[in-house]
Order: sequence, then C-alpha cells, then structure tokens
Amino acid sequence: MEALIADQEQMTWFLACRVEDVPADGGACVLLNGHQIAIYNFARRNEWFATDNECPHRQQMALSRGMIGSQGDEPKVACPFHKKTFSLRSGQCLNDESYQITTFPVKVTDGMVYIGLE
Ligand code: FES
Repeated sequence: MEALIADQEQMTWFLACRVEDVPADGGACVLLNGHQIAIYNFARRNEWFATDNECPHRQQMALSRGMIGSQGDEPKVACPFHKKTFSLRSGQCLNDESYQITTFPVKVTDGMVYIGLE
C-alpha cells in the first residue's frame, strides 16, 4: 500500500483508487490497513466523502452500495439493508441516534483518490 504526504496533523494520506473507479453519484469500497472504507463520488454536489463500509446496525459491509442524497444541506448515505441513514460529514445516524459511523477526509489529486488516516 502506498502512503503519501504526512501532514502536520499526523494524518497520512493513502492512495485508495482512481477517480474512474468510483461511479458518479455512487460509491466503491477499498481496503486500507485491513479496514473496509466506502468512498463516495457525490458528483451532484461536486464533493467526495469516505466512511466505514460497515453499517453498525447489523454489521453489514454495505454502505458503499447505499443510496446517497441530501437531507437539507446534509449529505447522507442510506444503508441498502434497513435504510439507516448516515451523515457523510459527521457519520451520525440521522434516523436512529444510537448509531454512528466513522468518516474520513478525502483528497482528489491528478485523477487519484486519497483517504486520510490518523
Ligand atoms: S444493516 Fe444497515 S440498516 Fe440494517
């Protein structure tokens, strides 16, 4: 695995995939440090997001296949299994506050997608 650019906040940026590996307004899953991470190309908003791929509701590795959308200004993903919906910014579940996922910073440079891990 290729680690790039460590910045001042002890963040290490890992090369995750190419831009074309993630469908527009969809997601893809990558394995980084043994951890499945869902990456979303939210083309309608011109933004990228990354979260855990595992849905904490029933531990399904499914969020990269979830439907993305917006609730007000909040970008979100809905788990395809039972429609728990998570903010792509904070990871907070928007329809059941007992669930939370981790979100990760994303950088897109020269057609490549990088995920920041501490
Ligand atoms: S497993 Fe995701 S909502 Fe149930």
